[in-house]
Amino acid sequence: MKAWKLIKYGKDFKAGMEILEVDKPTPADDEVLIECHAAALNPVDYKIAEGQLKLFYKQKMPAGLAFDCSGVVAEVGKNVKHLKVGDEVFCTTPTDSPGVLAEFVTVKADVVTQKPKNLSYAEAAGFAMVGLTTISCMEVVNLKAGEKILIHAGSGGIGSFAIQYARQLGAEVFTTTSTSNVDWVEELGAKVIDYKKEDYRKEVPQLDVVYDTLGGDFTTDAFPLLSPGGRVVSIAGRRLDEETAEQYGLNWLFKWFMKLQLRPIKKLCKKYDASYKFILNEPNMERLTKLKKALETGYIKTVINHTYSFDQVVEAFEMQQSGRSKGKNVILIK
Ligand SMILES: NC(=O)c1ccc[n+]([C@@H]2O[C@H](COP(=O)([O-])OP(=O)(O)OC[C@H]3O[C@@H](n4cnc5c(N)ncnc54)[C@H](OP(=O)(O)O)[C@@H]3O)[C@@H](O)[C@H]2O)c1
Repeated sequence: MKAWKLIKYGKDFKAGMEILEVDKPTPADDEVLIECHAAALNPVDYKIAEGQLKLFYKQKMPAGLAFDCSGVVAEVGKNVKHLKVGDEVFCTTPTDSPGVLAEFVTVKADVVTQKPKNLSYAEAAGFAMVGLTTISCMEVVNLKAGEKILIHAGSGGIGSFAIQYARQLGAEVFTTTSTSNVDWVEELGAKVIDYKKEDYRKEVPQLDVVYDTLGGDFTTDAFPLLSPGGRVVSIAGRRLDEETAEQYGLNWLFKWFMKLQLRPIKKLCKKYDASYKFILNEPNMERLTKLKKALETGYIKTVINHTYSFDQVVEAFEMQQSGRSKGKNVILIK
Protein backbone atom coordinates (compact mmCIF):
# COMPACT_ATOMS: atom_id res chain seq x y z
CA MET A 1 0.00 0.00 0.00
CA LYS A 2 1.02 3.64 -0.38
CA ALA A 3 1.81 5.76 2.68
CA TRP A 4 3.27 9.21 3.16
CA LYS A 5 6.25 9.04 5.50
CA LEU A 6 8.44 11.58 7.21
CA ILE A 7 11.99 10.73 6.20
CA LYS A 8 13.80 13.67 7.80
CA TYR A 9 12.92 16.65 9.96
CA GLY A 10 12.97 20.14 8.47
CA LYS A 11 10.87 23.07 7.27
CA ASP A 12 11.27 21.97 3.66
CA PHE A 13 8.54 19.33 3.45
CA LYS A 14 9.41 18.47 -0.18
CA ALA A 15 12.75 17.20 1.09
CA GLY A 16 11.41 15.66 4.29
CA MET A 17 8.41 13.62 3.13
CA GLU A 18 7.86 10.88 0.58
CA ILE A 19 5.19 8.48 -0.60
CA LEU A 20 6.54 5.00 0.05
CA GLU A 21 5.27 1.56 -0.87
CA VAL A 22 4.93 -0.30 2.45
CA ASP A 23 3.28 -3.47 3.77
CA LYS A 24 -0.37 -3.20 4.72
CA PRO A 25 -0.43 -3.37 8.55
CA THR A 26 -2.25 -6.10 10.47
CA PRO A 27 -4.41 -5.03 13.41
CA ALA A 28 -3.47 -6.27 16.90
CA ASP A 29 -6.24 -7.83 19.02
CA ASP A 30 -7.42 -4.44 20.33
CA GLU A 31 -7.06 -2.57 17.00
CA VAL A 32 -8.97 -2.04 13.77
CA LEU A 33 -7.57 -1.66 10.29
CA ILE A 34 -9.13 1.39 8.63
CA GLU A 35 -9.14 1.96 4.89
CA CYS A 36 -8.57 5.71 4.94
CA HIS A 37 -10.90 7.81 2.80
CA ALA A 38 -9.94 11.24 4.16
CA ALA A 39 -7.42 12.73 6.57
CA ALA A 40 -7.13 16.22 8.04
CA LEU A 41 -4.12 18.20 9.21
CA ASN A 42 -3.53 20.07 12.45
CA PRO A 43 -0.65 22.41 13.35
CA VAL A 44 0.95 19.62 15.39
CA ASP A 45 1.55 17.72 12.12
CA TYR A 46 3.80 20.36 10.60
CA LYS A 47 5.44 20.99 14.00
CA ILE A 48 6.35 17.29 14.19
CA ALA A 49 7.60 17.30 10.59
CA GLU A 50 9.74 20.37 11.24
CA GLY A 51 11.29 18.62 14.23
CA GLN A 52 9.93 21.15 16.76
CA LEU A 53 8.56 18.39 18.98
CA LYS A 54 11.27 15.78 18.71
CA LEU A 55 11.97 15.94 22.44
CA PHE A 56 8.39 14.81 23.08
CA TYR A 57 7.64 12.61 20.08
CA LYS A 58 10.45 10.16 19.67
CA GLN A 59 10.08 8.83 16.14
CA LYS A 60 11.86 6.25 14.09
CA MET A 61 12.19 7.30 10.46
CA PRO A 62 10.45 6.70 8.13
CA ALA A 63 7.63 7.83 10.44
CA GLY A 64 3.86 7.99 9.99
CA LEU A 65 2.20 11.35 9.46
CA ALA A 66 -0.99 12.97 10.81
CA PHE A 67 -3.67 11.90 13.27
CA ASP A 68 -7.18 12.71 11.98
CA CYS A 69 -8.91 10.31 9.65
CA SER A 70 -12.15 8.80 8.47
CA GLY A 71 -12.74 5.69 6.44
CA VAL A 72 -14.10 2.17 6.46
CA VAL A 73 -13.17 -0.66 8.83
CA ALA A 74 -11.35 -3.30 6.78
CA GLU A 75 -10.35 -5.73 9.57
CA VAL A 76 -11.01 -6.02 13.30
CA GLY A 77 -8.80 -7.42 16.05
CA LYS A 78 -10.31 -10.35 17.96
CA ASN A 79 -11.04 -8.32 21.13
CA VAL A 80 -12.92 -5.55 19.31
CA LYS A 81 -16.65 -5.74 19.96
CA HIS A 82 -18.13 -2.35 19.04
CA LEU A 83 -16.98 -2.22 15.39
CA LYS A 84 -17.26 -4.56 12.42
CA VAL A 85 -15.87 -4.78 8.90
CA GLY A 86 -17.62 -2.24 6.66
CA ASP A 87 -18.38 0.31 9.40
CA GLU A 88 -17.81 3.92 8.38
CA VAL A 89 -15.68 5.43 11.14
CA PHE A 90 -13.71 8.50 12.20
CA CYS A 91 -11.00 9.13 14.77
CA THR A 92 -7.92 10.98 15.83
CA THR A 93 -5.17 8.53 16.65
CA PRO A 94 -3.35 8.57 20.02
CA THR A 95 -0.51 11.10 20.23
CA ASP A 96 2.17 8.41 19.98
CA SER A 97 0.85 6.93 16.75
CA PRO A 98 0.41 9.32 13.81
CA GLY A 99 0.16 7.64 10.39
CA VAL A 100 -3.24 8.28 8.79
CA LEU A 101 -1.75 9.60 5.53
CA ALA A 102 -1.83 6.11 4.13
CA GLU A 103 -4.23 3.86 2.26
CA PHE A 104 -4.67 1.79 5.44
CA VAL A 105 -3.91 2.46 9.10
CA THR A 106 -4.25 0.40 12.28
CA VAL A 107 -5.74 2.28 15.25
CA LYS A 108 -6.61 1.26 18.82
CA ALA A 109 -10.32 0.50 18.57
CA ASP A 110 -11.14 2.33 21.81
CA VAL A 111 -10.56 5.68 20.07
CA VAL A 112 -12.55 4.84 16.91
CA THR A 113 -16.28 5.22 16.46
CA GLN A 114 -18.93 5.36 13.75
CA LYS A 115 -18.81 8.43 11.52
CA PRO A 116 -21.85 10.69 11.91
CA LYS A 117 -24.12 9.74 8.99
CA ASN A 118 -24.82 13.39 8.13
CA LEU A 119 -21.14 14.06 7.40
CA SER A 120 -18.93 13.19 4.46
CA TYR A 121 -15.59 11.49 5.09
CA ALA A 122 -13.81 14.82 4.52
CA GLU A 123 -16.03 16.64 7.01
CA ALA A 124 -15.76 13.95 9.69
CA ALA A 125 -11.95 13.77 9.46
CA GLY A 126 -11.77 17.54 9.86
CA PHE A 127 -13.63 17.51 13.16
CA ALA A 128 -11.66 14.83 14.99
CA MET A 129 -8.78 16.53 16.81
CA VAL A 130 -10.30 20.02 17.00
CA GLY A 131 -13.51 18.51 18.35
CA LEU A 132 -11.92 16.30 21.00
CA THR A 133 -9.51 19.01 22.15
CA THR A 134 -12.29 21.57 22.48
CA ILE A 135 -14.57 19.15 24.31
CA SER A 136 -11.76 18.43 26.82
CA CYS A 137 -11.27 22.17 27.29
CA MET A 138 -14.97 22.93 27.74
CA GLU A 139 -15.26 20.06 30.22
CA VAL A 140 -12.35 21.34 32.26
CA VAL A 141 -13.78 24.89 32.47
CA ASN A 142 -17.32 23.52 32.80
CA LEU A 143 -18.71 26.10 30.38
CA LYS A 144 -22.35 26.81 31.17
CA ALA A 145 -25.25 28.35 29.24
CA GLY A 146 -25.28 32.14 29.54
CA GLU A 147 -21.56 32.42 30.31
CA LYS A 148 -19.26 34.65 28.27
CA ILE A 149 -16.29 33.04 26.58
CA LEU A 150 -13.48 34.50 24.47
CA ILE A 151 -12.16 32.04 21.90
CA HIS A 152 -9.03 33.32 20.21
CA ALA A 153 -8.45 32.83 16.47
CA GLY A 154 -12.05 32.11 15.46
CA SER A 155 -11.07 31.40 11.85
CA GLY A 156 -8.69 28.54 12.66
CA GLY A 157 -9.48 24.85 12.79
CA ILE A 158 -10.01 24.97 16.54
CA GLY A 159 -11.73 28.35 16.62
CA SER A 160 -14.25 27.62 13.87
CA PHE A 161 -15.36 24.44 15.66
CA ALA A 162 -15.15 25.88 19.19
CA ILE A 163 -17.36 28.89 18.42
CA GLN A 164 -20.14 26.61 17.24
CA TYR A 165 -19.69 24.11 20.07
CA ALA A 166 -19.73 26.83 22.75
CA ARG A 167 -22.85 28.32 21.13
CA GLN A 168 -24.43 24.88 21.21
CA LEU A 169 -23.72 24.82 24.96
CA GLY A 170 -25.58 28.14 25.22
CA ALA A 171 -22.60 30.43 25.85
CA GLU A 172 -22.14 33.96 24.53
CA VAL A 173 -19.06 33.81 22.33
CA PHE A 174 -16.47 36.47 21.53
CA THR A 175 -13.63 35.83 19.11
CA THR A 176 -10.73 37.49 17.33
CA THR A 177 -9.79 37.32 13.67
CA SER A 178 -8.34 39.49 10.92
CA THR A 179 -10.38 41.72 8.60
CA SER A 180 -10.92 39.33 5.70
CA ASN A 181 -12.39 36.66 7.99
CA VAL A 182 -14.75 38.82 10.03
CA ASP A 183 -17.98 38.21 8.07
CA TRP A 184 -17.91 34.42 7.80
CA VAL A 185 -16.70 33.97 11.39
CA GLU A 186 -19.59 36.15 12.59
CA GLU A 187 -21.95 33.76 10.80
CA LEU A 188 -20.64 30.92 13.01
CA GLY A 189 -22.30 32.68 15.94
CA ALA A 190 -19.62 34.83 17.59
CA LYS A 191 -19.19 38.53 18.26
CA VAL A 192 -16.06 39.19 16.29
CA ILE A 193 -13.22 41.56 17.09
CA ASP A 194 -10.99 42.41 14.14
CA TYR A 195 -7.53 42.23 15.69
CA LYS A 196 -6.07 44.27 12.81
CA LYS A 197 -8.24 47.23 13.76
CA GLU A 198 -9.14 46.86 17.42
CA ASP A 199 -7.56 45.84 20.72
CA TYR A 200 -9.66 42.87 21.83
CA ARG A 201 -8.73 43.56 25.47
CA LYS A 202 -10.74 46.78 25.28
CA GLU A 203 -13.64 45.35 23.29
CA VAL A 204 -14.73 42.31 25.32
CA PRO A 205 -17.00 42.53 28.39
CA GLN A 206 -16.03 40.79 31.65
CA LEU A 207 -15.57 37.14 30.74
CA ASP A 208 -16.14 33.85 32.48
CA VAL A 209 -13.80 31.81 30.30
CA VAL A 210 -10.90 32.39 27.89
CA TYR A 211 -10.04 29.58 25.48
CA ASP A 212 -6.44 30.44 24.68
CA THR A 213 -5.48 29.00 21.30
CA LEU A 214 -2.52 31.29 20.71
CA GLY A 215 -0.26 31.14 23.78
CA GLY A 216 2.41 33.74 24.63
CA ASP A 217 1.04 37.09 25.82
CA PHE A 218 -2.49 35.93 24.96
CA THR A 219 -2.31 33.60 27.96
CA THR A 220 -1.24 36.22 30.51
CA ASP A 221 -3.49 38.89 28.99
CA ALA A 222 -6.53 36.66 29.58
CA PHE A 223 -6.58 37.07 33.37
CA PRO A 224 -7.49 40.77 33.72
CA LEU A 225 -10.47 40.14 31.40
CA LEU A 226 -12.12 37.66 33.76
CA SER A 227 -14.79 38.06 36.41
CA PRO A 228 -13.79 36.60 39.81
CA GLY A 229 -13.87 32.80 39.57
CA GLY A 230 -13.02 32.98 35.86
CA ARG A 231 -11.21 30.20 34.03
CA VAL A 232 -8.43 30.16 31.44
CA VAL A 233 -7.86 27.03 29.41
CA SER A 234 -4.91 26.94 27.04
CA ILE A 235 -3.85 24.59 24.27
CA ALA A 236 -0.98 26.62 22.80
CA GLY A 237 2.37 27.93 23.99
CA ARG A 238 4.65 26.51 26.64
CA ARG A 239 2.83 26.97 29.89
CA LEU A 240 2.08 23.38 30.67
CA ASP A 241 0.74 22.65 34.13
CA GLU A 242 2.12 19.83 36.29
CA GLU A 243 -0.40 17.31 34.96
CA THR A 244 0.38 17.98 31.28
CA ALA A 245 4.12 17.93 31.97
CA GLU A 246 3.59 14.40 33.32
CA GLN A 247 1.42 13.52 30.31
CA TYR A 248 4.25 14.62 27.97
CA GLY A 249 6.62 12.39 29.96
CA LEU A 250 9.01 15.31 30.53
CA ASN A 251 12.23 14.70 32.43
CA TRP A 252 13.05 16.57 35.68
CA LEU A 253 14.91 19.37 33.84
CA PHE A 254 11.95 20.15 31.60
CA LYS A 255 9.57 19.87 34.53
CA TRP A 256 11.68 22.39 36.41
CA PHE A 257 11.67 24.70 33.35
CA MET A 258 7.89 24.34 33.03
CA LYS A 259 7.47 25.18 36.71
CA LEU A 260 9.37 28.43 36.11
CA GLN A 261 7.14 29.24 33.10
CA LEU A 262 4.08 28.60 35.21
CA ARG A 263 5.09 30.81 38.13
CA PRO A 264 3.66 34.08 36.67
CA ILE A 265 0.45 32.22 35.75
CA LYS A 266 0.02 31.04 39.34
CA LYS A 267 0.45 34.61 40.54
CA LEU A 268 -2.18 35.78 38.05
CA CYS A 269 -4.59 33.08 39.21
CA LYS A 270 -4.22 34.34 42.77
CA LYS A 271 -4.49 38.02 41.83
CA TYR A 272 -7.64 37.56 39.72
CA ASP A 273 -9.22 34.69 41.66
CA ALA A 274 -9.01 32.58 38.51
CA SER A 275 -8.01 29.08 37.46
CA TYR A 276 -5.66 27.90 34.71
CA LYS A 277 -5.35 24.58 32.89
CA PHE A 278 -3.32 23.47 29.88
CA ILE A 279 -4.88 20.70 27.81
CA LEU A 280 -2.98 18.25 25.70
CA ASN A 281 -5.47 16.31 23.63
CA GLU A 282 -5.52 12.57 24.11
CA PRO A 283 -8.48 10.85 22.43
CA ASN A 284 -10.94 8.77 24.40
CA MET A 285 -14.24 7.08 23.65
CA GLU A 286 -16.34 9.16 26.03
CA ARG A 287 -15.41 12.44 24.33
CA LEU A 288 -15.52 10.89 20.88
CA THR A 289 -19.11 9.83 21.56
CA LYS A 290 -19.91 13.31 22.84
CA LEU A 291 -18.39 14.79 19.67
CA LYS A 292 -20.34 12.41 17.45
CA LYS A 293 -23.60 13.39 19.18
CA ALA A 294 -22.81 17.11 18.87
CA LEU A 295 -22.11 16.69 15.14
CA GLU A 296 -25.23 14.60 14.54
CA THR A 297 -27.43 17.51 15.62
CA GLY A 298 -26.45 19.15 12.32
CA TYR A 299 -25.93 22.41 14.19
CA ILE A 300 -22.17 22.52 13.68
CA LYS A 301 -21.03 23.09 10.14
CA THR A 302 -17.64 22.14 8.76
CA VAL A 303 -15.28 24.85 7.70
CA ILE A 304 -12.88 23.43 5.15
CA ASN A 305 -10.05 25.69 4.04
CA HIS A 306 -9.04 23.43 1.16
CA THR A 307 -9.21 19.81 0.05
CA TYR A 308 -6.10 18.22 -1.42
CA SER A 309 -5.52 15.00 -3.32
CA PHE A 310 -3.25 12.28 -1.90
CA ASP A 311 -0.44 13.54 -4.18
CA GLN A 312 -0.68 17.03 -2.72
CA VAL A 313 0.23 16.30 0.90
CA VAL A 314 3.29 18.59 0.78
CA GLU A 315 1.11 21.51 -0.38
CA ALA A 316 -1.36 20.78 2.41
CA PHE A 317 1.45 20.83 4.99
CA GLU A 318 2.73 24.12 3.57
CA MET A 319 -0.74 25.64 3.88
CA GLN A 320 -1.06 24.43 7.48
CA GLN A 321 2.40 25.78 8.25
CA SER A 322 1.44 29.25 6.93
CA GLY A 323 -0.86 29.77 9.95
CA ARG A 324 -3.46 31.38 7.68
CA SER A 325 -5.86 28.47 7.18
CA LYS A 326 -9.55 29.28 7.37
CA GLY A 327 -10.77 26.09 9.00
CA LYS A 328 -9.42 22.68 8.09
CA ASN A 329 -7.08 21.30 5.43
CA VAL A 330 -8.35 17.93 4.29
CA ILE A 331 -6.65 15.28 2.16
CA LEU A 332 -8.82 12.94 0.11
CA ILE A 333 -7.24 9.52 0.04
CA LYS A 334 -9.88 7.35 -1.61
N1 LIG B 1 -2.92 21.12 23.07
C1 LIG B 1 -3.55 20.41 22.16
O1 LIG B 1 -3.90 19.25 22.37
C2 LIG B 1 -3.86 21.05 20.82
C3 LIG B 1 -4.77 20.44 19.93
C4 LIG B 1 -5.08 21.08 18.73
C5 LIG B 1 -4.47 22.30 18.44
N2 LIG B 1 -3.57 22.84 19.32
C6 LIG B 1 -2.91 24.13 19.03
O2 LIG B 1 -3.91 25.14 18.96
C7 LIG B 1 -3.47 26.17 18.10
C8 LIG B 1 -4.59 26.51 17.12
O3 LIG B 1 -4.84 25.39 16.30
P1 LIG B 1 -5.70 25.53 14.95
O4 LIG B 1 -5.91 24.17 14.42
O5 LIG B 1 -6.86 26.42 15.18
O6 LIG B 1 -4.63 26.32 14.05
P2 LIG B 1 -4.85 26.95 12.60
O7 LIG B 1 -6.08 26.40 11.98
O8 LIG B 1 -3.57 26.82 11.86
O9 LIG B 1 -5.08 28.49 12.92
C9 LIG B 1 -5.00 29.38 11.85
C10 LIG B 1 -5.85 30.59 12.15
O10 LIG B 1 -5.28 31.32 13.24
C11 LIG B 1 -5.63 32.68 13.06
N3 LIG B 1 -4.70 33.55 13.79
C12 LIG B 1 -3.36 33.56 13.71
N4 LIG B 1 -2.85 34.53 14.53
C13 LIG B 1 -3.92 35.13 15.11
C14 LIG B 1 -4.07 36.19 16.06
N5 LIG B 1 -3.00 36.83 16.55
N6 LIG B 1 -5.31 36.54 16.46
C15 LIG B 1 -6.40 35.90 15.97
N7 LIG B 1 -6.33 34.90 15.05
C16 LIG B 1 -5.10 34.52 14.64
C17 LIG B 1 -5.53 32.88 11.57
O11 LIG B 1 -6.47 33.89 11.19
P3 LIG B 1 -5.98 35.25 10.50
O12 LIG B 1 -5.41 34.81 9.19
O13 LIG B 1 -7.22 36.02 10.44
O14 LIG B 1 -4.94 35.82 11.43
C18 LIG B 1 -5.92 31.52 10.97
O15 LIG B 1 -7.24 31.50 10.45
C19 LIG B 1 -2.18 25.67 17.45
O16 LIG B 1 -1.06 26.21 18.13
C20 LIG B 1 -2.22 24.17 17.68
O17 LIG B 1 -0.94 23.57 17.73
C21 LIG B 1 -3.26 22.24 20.48
